[in-house]
Amino acid sequence: MSSGGIRDRVAAHLRDLSPYVPGRPIAEIEREYGLERVVKLASNENPLGPSRRACEAVTRELAEVHRYPDGGATLLRDELARRFGVGPDRVLLGNGSNEILTLLARVLLGPGNEAVFAEGAFAIYALATQAAGARGIAVPMKDFTHDLDAIVDAIGPRTRIVFLGNPNNPTGTIYRRAAWERFLERVPRDVVVVCDDAYAEYVTDPEYPDTLREADRHPHLVVLRTFSKIYGLAGLRIGYGIGPADLVDLIDRLRDPFNVNHLAQVAALGALDDDEHVRASRELNRAGLDFLSRVCRALSLPFVPSHANFLLVEVGDGAHAFQALLRAGVIVRPVGGYGFPGHVRVSIGTPEENTVFAQALAALLGRSGTAAAQLVQPPLEARGGAGG
Ligand SMILES: Cc1ncc(COP(=O)(O)O)c(C=O)c1O
Repeated sequence: MSSGGIRDRVAAHLRDLSPYVPGRPIAEIEREYGLERVVKLASNENPLGPSRRACEAVTRELAEVHRYPDGGATLLRDELARRFGVGPDRVLLGNGSNEILTLLARVLLGPGNEAVFAEGAFAIYALATQAAGARGIAVPMKDFTHDLDAIVDAIGPRTRIVFLGNPNNPTGTIYRRAAWERFLERVPRDVVVVCDDAYAEYVTDPEYPDTLREADRHPHLVVLRTFSKIYGLAGLRIGYGIGPADLVDLIDRLRDPFNVNHLAQVAALGALDDDEHVRASRELNRAGLDFLSRVCRALSLPFVPSHANFLLVEVGDGAHAFQALLRAGVIVRPVGGYGFPGHVRVSIGTPEENTVFAQALAALLGRSGTAAAQLVQPPLEARGGAGG
């Protein structure tokens, strides 16, 4: 009967947190719906799998897991520092870039101050802000895209952090160099700007700002990247950031001593060395994006042109489409919680997985009669590409 237990003893901002809702696992859906094969296109993972070099490194190091990891991730930190031409004291490593987002919020935010981010941006910005006891200011997007001018306008004396996702999840949109440069000129120097560039390696737009290369243009710029997406290591949990040394030092004091496990560290080093895997992943993604964009046009479904490895598709009733696709053995992501109740987000899969999705979508819309050629993605080899 008593609900007056532990809940009443924790701060209201923690009591009211809504848990992050991840993509649903394959095994669970197979069991629930009695399906033999389920295609998961719900978490923006790399359908090509991890890099072979990463796998070899993990296999080699498996017998070493009785030892604690290197708490400073020295080899990886040094390698990232070398690649980006910064001192190792500017490199942050986390149990996924998600952990770094949370640590930034814990270090910089608290009751009485604010973080600014876009409405319809990655959910963790709002969650991490709330968990730190601070107030989140969500700024409306323009055409599904960050409105950097409006974001600067929303910065006030209490603002400590601005979170920017570029490309943004779940819209797949980017802000371009001109808007970014205008933003940098206007943003107060004491506000920490977090550029969450988790999908940067997929972007081919020539106007995409390379925030890592431009990190010196603002004294408090933090650029986040991850090994979960193009590098295919989501299950190992490892992400990194480049930031000012004093902020990296503060986070190093707060983080768990061994926040990045040994296998993740060695896999990341292997993956960084595998340019061919990155190239093939990018090519597979481009072909899948092109195919799914054509499918949407064929089915007369509006979609948001994407620079990442997923597509936001307007299906009418997103929750209904999500359920119907589940029954057909395809897991996508409903995005009502992001303010897009009429859309679903679909991650780009292999040609075969994309085809399963296209056909399930056509069936859901009563358009199974759509010409097969429009709903079947040919394998990449047939197009002279890298293949899966
Ligand atoms: C925009 C964005 N940032 C950060 C993350 C977190 O990635 P991870 O914690 O796996 O590095 C994600 C994951 O989906 C994302 O979409």
